[in-house]
Amino acid sequence: MPVPDKVLKRIERLRRQLDHHNHLYHVLDRPEIPDAQYDRLFRELQALEDEHPEFITTDSPTQRVGGEPVRAFGEVVHEVPMLSLGNCFSEDELQDFDRRVRDGLNEDEVIYAAEPKLDGLAISLRYEDGVLVRAATRGDGATGEDVTHNVRTIHSVPLRMRGRTQDRGFPAVIEVRGEIYIAKDGFAKLNARQVKRGEKEFANPRNAAAGSLRQLDPRITATRPLSMYCYGVGVVEGATLPGEHIKVLEQLRQWGFRICDLIKTVKGVSGCLKYYTELASRRSRLAYEIDGIVYKVNDISEQQTLGFVSRAPRWAIAHKFPAQEEITRVEAIEIQVGRTGALTPVARLKPVFVGGVTVTNATLHNIDEINRKDVRAGDTVVVRRAGDVIPEVVSVVASKRKKGARKFHMPKTCPVCESHVQRPQGESVTRCTGGLFCPAQRKQAIKHFAGRRAMDIEGLGDKLVDQLVENDMIHDLADIYRVKQDDFASLERMGDKSAKNLVAALEKSKQTTLPRFLFSLGIREVGETTALTLARHFGSLDAVMSASEAQLQSVEDVGPAVSASILGFFKERHNRDVIRKLIRAGLTWDDIDTTQLTASPLAGKTVVLTGTLSKMSRGDARAKLQALGARVAGSVSKKTSIVFAGENAGSKLTRAEGLGVTVLDEAALIKILRGDFSVL
Ligand code: IVH
Repeated sequence: MPVPDKVLKRIERLRRQLDHHNHLYHVLDRPEIPDAQYDRLFRELQALEDEHPEFITTDSPTQRVGGEPVRAFGEVVHEVPMLSLGNCFSEDELQDFDRRVRDGLNEDEVIYAAEPKLDGLAISLRYEDGVLVRAATRGDGATGEDVTHNVRTIHSVPLRMRGRTQDRGFPAVIEVRGEIYIAKDGFAKLNARQVKRGEKEFANPRNAAAGSLRQLDPRITATRPLSMYCYGVGVVEGATLPGEHIKVLEQLRQWGFRICDLIKTVKGVSGCLKYYTELASRRSRLAYEIDGIVYKVNDISEQQTLGFVSRAPRWAIAHKFPAQEEITRVEAIEIQVGRTGALTPVARLKPVFVGGVTVTNATLHNIDEINRKDVRAGDTVVVRRAGDVIPEVVSVVASKRKKGARKFHMPKTCPVCESHVQRPQGESVTRCTGGLFCPAQRKQAIKHFAGRRAMDIEGLGDKLVDQLVENDMIHDLADIYRVKQDDFASLERMGDKSAKNLVAALEKSKQTTLPRFLFSLGIREVGETTALTLARHFGSLDAVMSASEAQLQSVEDVGPAVSASILGFFKERHNRDVIRKLIRAGLTWDDIDTTQLTASPLAGKTVVLTGTLSKMSRGDARAKLQALGARVAGSVSKKTSIVFAGENAGSKLTRAEGLGVTVLDEAALIKILRGDFSVL
């Protein structure tokens, strides 16, 4: 039994270690130890504290979730008010702001700190002697709510500042301010969990974060993926902070606070705009939602000179991104026919500026989506355009529906070619049965065929294809190689020169590869990767075309849907005719030598992978074994030829040994994959 003195030392050491690793993981995003190791340290600390409750402190890592729910939120008066920010939406408005700042400071050019404007909620953290004592919401700026019990559960919020008061010189009292938010992936998972539990989904990450902080029971908050970035300070007593905003943030980072690493200083309006444009283009790839950029005068004494107007500082402004959601009216619902014949309902909209562009159409996806949202012509709707995503109708403003608005129904025939439409049971997509007879499908098929990753026919753009089909110059893919240079030249926006170039590009495209050719055909479910796998597996077009369902499904990643689509495609006579015509037009490629596969001693053998491989992933090994003709099975039976056993192999290895199946290790596997079969 250790004496308490030793116990206390151990407890303190564990707390330091846990704080350190928590900081690495949640603040710096740079974990050093596996989660299991962290958990072991945590449990050891918990056990010691259970035995010696007299040593428990509020800033111990075990005390993040404090146990008892609160009955109500207390009120917190902000000694230094939590301000809001003025907004601007355009370059002109930003110029106006900068002019006011320069006039106020009597300067020609000002250095700003530029920061992402996080879309969460503002929080003020109060530390006394380096220990978190209170966390409060902004409220009306003057008075907020005490949410300490909930904020303590957020791992990126330090329970105590890093370093010691004396040598790091941290203030006796400091209020650190920042934004609490939920990252995009955490939000998606949270909503998935809500759905699974039959609870209501959150409208957006901001609402989810706010709702999570307004819980009386911190155990609920602890299950929510909340994070915090700090961007400023309130009360500071007993220390002097640096004289530049960016350096204050750097100091906070040293003290263990999480600071967004996209923050930097920029010069004048031009620097601000460059930063804005850069972040706007990265926005959709950021892990969290931002709704604009905040520019702050970087020099703190200049901030003080400028001061405040009503409740916003004169030294900072939020430059908002254009809204991603707007309201407009659906003028009509129309149908578009795609390459695979899918009929997509599209809302024709009263033009509306959203997500930075004017939107006139928005996809309604399919009839199930229309019914779910109950969208009707004439409705007022919320339209969303985020990043490069296709604009979509989010919801209907029910209160604005006109009397007599009629429900939408899918047509019974294709609006382009009048062929019948089909909607297979259990699917939400309705399709035109016209195939390449349907001009809409023909256009799309040719556009796909000409695409960069398909036959790569330079100069055969969308507008040109539309004309070729509308003028009845091409009926199928192969016709494209029959059009004469003069006929190309006669089309709108084509001259002799471009017609000549196009003919040359067509000629050049004829020398292709089997995977490209397979992809170009536009077989449903056969994307670039599947085309490549098929080509490698079968080696020649004939072999792919004559493959049976079973043979197709023996190919990696080819399941029932893909094989059905391939079989269906080659069964159609007109598809086979088109292929023949293309070959007659001069398309060539080299077949892929698969003799290596049949010569492989693994051809047709069943093998099993088990245990952990250190030099490659299981998936990689499986793909390579399959490329050598092996069948890779999931369990060991009498039919198994070889079991490849990595580290820590378990029951499969035991079973193989019991059945007398050959067992080889990873080194042997690597040799085999390199073509050295001597180990067999
Ligand atoms: S500074 C005195 N910086 O925006 C300036 N605010 O509209 C006070 N916000 O309540 C705020 N990101 O919730 C600042 N990098 C950032 C921010 C930010 C988001 C929020 C914050 C504030 C609101 C003001």
